[in-house]
Amino acid sequence: MHNSEEVYDTKHLESKPPQMIVLENMSFCYNSDKKIFESVHLKFDRNNKYALVGESGVGKSTLINLMLRLWDPTEGNIRINGTNIRDIDVCGLREQISIVSQEVFFFNDTIRENIDIDNKCTDSELFHMLKKKWVC
Ligand SMILES: Nc1ncnc2c1ncn2[C@@H]1O[C@H](COP(=O)(O)OP(=O)(O)OP(=O)(O)O)[C@@H](O)[C@H]1O
Ligand SMILES: [Mg+2]
Repeated sequence: MHNSEEVYDTKHLESKPPQMIVLENMSFCYNSDKKIFESVHLKFDRNNKYALVGESGVGKSTLINLMLRLWDPTEGNIRINGTNIRDIDVCGLREQISIVSQEVFFFNDTIRENIDIDNKCTDSELFHMLKKKWVC
């Protein structure tokens, strides 16, 4: 188990926005016969913009999925502000990450129906949410 003082919950991440993401000696394979990453060291800091560039199948999406904790590294760690993401509340972690997927799916319906799929929001709640997320 991890030290409880190091555990970040959603609140912690909101009050302490990610300054630095570090991949520390990270290896990953989906199955034993093919390593996608081997002992990778990478640093992403808040004040810069980064592009992951490479041929199809090199692992760009896999890297993002590892940061989202859809998978965990086979070896090594991913740290945000020094804390291992395994010790961060997974919902709080994912709230900090916005993704535009390369495979975008829309229902054949209005934009509103696509956003508020079960029709639970009033118009003002919807606009508030969109403004908060910088969509409009
Ligand atoms: N769920 C999975 N199970 C097993 N292998 C996978 C899985 N997802 C991806 N792979 C394999 O892992 C490797 C990296 O895939 P990934 O999708 O991360 O590449 P990519 O760089 O994002 O490619 P593209 O530019 O086509 O999006 C590929 O060989 C892919 O076939
Ligand atoms: Mg991809």
